[in-house]
Amino acid sequence: MNFGKVSKRVDQVLPFYVMDLMAKAKQLEAQGRDIVHMEVGEPDFSTPKPILEAATKFLAQGNVHYTQAQGLLALREKIAQFYQSEYRVSVPVERIFITPGASGALTVALASLLDEGDEVLIPDPGYPCNSNLIKLFSAEAKSVDVFAEDNFQFTVDSINDAWGDNTRGVMIASPSNPTGMMINRGQLSALIQQVQEKQGFFISDEIYHGLSYAEPAVSALEFSDDVFVLNSFSKYFGMTGWRLGWLIVPEYAISAANRLMQNMYIAAATHSQYAALAAFDEDTQDILRERCDQFEQRRDVLYDGLEALGFKMNEKPQGAFYIYVDCSSFCDDSFSFALELLEHSGVAITPGLDFGANHPERYLRFAYTTSVERIELGLQRLKEFLLMKGLLVKG
Ligand SMILES: Cc1ncc(COP(=O)(O)O)c(C=O)c1O
Repeated sequence: MNFGKVSKRVDQVLPFYVMDLMAKAKQLEAQGRDIVHMEVGEPDFSTPKPILEAATKFLAQGNVHYTQAQGLLALREKIAQFYQSEYRVSVPVERIFITPGASGALTVALASLLDEGDEVLIPDPGYPCNSNLIKLFSAEAKSVDVFAEDNFQFTVDSINDAWGDNTRGVMIASPSNPTGMMINRGQLSALIQQVQEKQGFFISDEIYHGLSYAEPAVSALEFSDDVFVLNSFSKYFGMTGWRLGWLIVPEYAISAANRLMQNMYIAAATHSQYAALAAFDEDTQDILRERCDQFEQRRDVLYDGLEALGFKMNEKPQGAFYIYVDCSSFCDDSFSFALELLEHSGVAITPGLDFGANHPERYLRFAYTTSVERIELGLQRLKEFLLMKGLLVKG
């Protein structure tokens, strides 16, 4: 009898702790309080106008039907051109799948690869959904601690040490959520080589590509065709709500990914795919490059501000829109700290707890997905909070 019960699998899926904080923030806002939001992992910018126009034009003709499971050929062709111009790699359109966000890409990749009992190495701290999705497919997520001195990315040694009899592959993200740190060309090439020597799969989450402030991010496809690469229109392209991403699979997984897309999703949203046809146009790219400059400016304001307040800073993050800050000089429980900061001073940030078990109590994630003025206000409130708690001496 299973009446009134959910599956054992889903019981293992953890909630986002930040949701509690967001609920609290909403409640405070409903009471008329002003909240500086630095907890949200999505750009505050609206969808670029050329993309909106493309969507409106498509919707106006009224025929909004399914596309083929793999996605519009015209969009896959644009993505293939993007890999050619951005990374100098040639990707056949047959290997490109348009998915409902990077989330859809993750589920298709993991469903293509995992059997019961398989183990996947994931970095800790890392994107929380990965371990939950791996568990949903009856596999094990083995968290491997990554450290500030390695840019919070895997090293060849860390992979070697963690690799066990049941390990089947590795997932990385660069730039990373929650750290904004990137893996360099040499590190990435060595990791892929290492994993392939062990005959493992390599999943590279490249969702924050485009949002990098020094060197451009390197794609795993620059080193091998036998990798799974996922990306999305959510972050750089500012299209979170359109739920559109893509997955590039090795030749051997094309049929599997096709069957999974058909069965799990039928296809990604049609109007979103037509909208995204304008995403690579020069006028859209001009808008996006300008936004990227704004993100860089915000990062600098936030980083310098946190440093001036006395947080222990790691190297400046090179990408995404996050700073993962060591707050151990001010507290030994980042969750309570974040909650109190929100309630007392109206600043919302995400505690480390959501990103794994690697000393989460010591870390806070700040998202610079709000304007420089709001970031400055947030820093001012943070300063007053620290003064009020006697953690900062007036000077
Ligand atoms: C590292 C990473 N991967 C994947 C996703 C999923 O993004 P989406 O489904 O909106 O494309 C996110 C969202 O925050 C993320 O941070």
